[in-house]
Amino acid sequence: MGDTVIRTRKLSKEYARDEFKVMALDEVDIDIDRGDFVALMGPSGSGKSTLLHLIAAMDRPTGGDIEVLGANLRQFSDKQIAHWRNEHIGFIFQSFNLIPVLTGLENVELPLKLTNLPKKERIEHAATALKLVGLGDRLGHLPKQLSGGQEQRVAIARAIVTDPDLILADEPTGNLDAAAAEDVLTMLSRLNKEFGKTVVMVTHDPHAARFATTIRHLEKGRLLPVGALPADWASAISVRN
Ligand SMILES: Nc1ncnc2c1ncn2[C@@H]1O[C@H](COP(=O)(O)OP(=O)(O)O)[C@@H](O)[C@H]1O
Ligand SMILES: [Mg+2]
Repeated sequence: MGDTVIRTRKLSKEYARDEFKVMALDEVDIDIDRGDFVALMGPSGSGKSTLLHLIAAMDRPTGGDIEVLGANLRQFSDKQIAHWRNEHIGFIFQSFNLIPVLTGLENVELPLKLTNLPKKERIEHAATALKLVGLGDRLGHLPKQLSGGQEQRVAIARAIVTDPDLILADEPTGNLDAAAAEDVLTMLSRLNKEFGKTVVMVTHDPHAARFATTIRHLEKGRLLPVGALPADWASAISVRN
C-alpha cells in the first residue's frame, strides 16, 4: 500500500467576486502517494492553480479537509504555515519569481535564511543545488543575465535547496521554448525518479504531462475520476500528434 502524502476530502475554495461567487474548487477528493509524479491538467480557470496553492498552504480552503505530509493544514496558524511550507514544499512558478537584485546564489540561499543553518553552510547548500541543475558556473549572475531556461533552473534549485518532500510546479514550462522546457521536465523527472521527490505539476501541455506517472484532469473546479476522458480530449490528442 502506498504512503499517502496528500489527501483531500471535499476540498473546496469559493471566491466571492462582487455579488458573484466562483467555486474555484468544488469538493475535490484526491490522494497522492509518496514518489508519485502527478500532472494536473484542465482548461484555463478549471482550478488547477487553486488546488496547487491549497496543497502548498499558500491559500486556505473554504470547505473540506486537506492533509499534507500528515499535517492537517487547517490547524496551523499563519506563522506555523510559513515555517511548515519552507521546510516541506518546493514551489516552482511559471514566471520563475526570482528576486531581480539578487544573484542566482543569493536567490537559492533565501529559503535557508529561515533555517538556523550558518551562512557558510547556506552558501555551500545553495551552490550544490545550482550545480545539480547545471548552473555551477552561473552563481554570481543576476536573473536578467540569464536565459529563461536558466532562470527556471535557478528557481528549481531554490525549490530543492531545503530538501523538501514535495515539489509543486505551476505551468513550469509555460514561459519557455521547447528546448528549455525539455530540460526543466527532465529535471523534474530526475528529482522524482532519482531523488524520490513527490511532484505535482500543473500543465496544459500534453507533451509535458507525459513526463508524469499519473495524469488527473480538473474541469470547472471538479476532479474527474481516474482514467476519465476530459471533454476536450479530442483536441488534446490532436496536439499530441
Ligand atoms: N483571487 C481570486 N479571486 C477571485 N477569483 C479567483 C481568484 N483566483 C482564482 N479565481 C477564479 O477561480 C477559478 C479557478 O482559477 P485557477 O485555479 O487560477 O484556474 P487555472 O489555474 O486552472 O487556470 C477561475 O474562475 C478564477 O477566475
Ligand atoms: Mg493557473
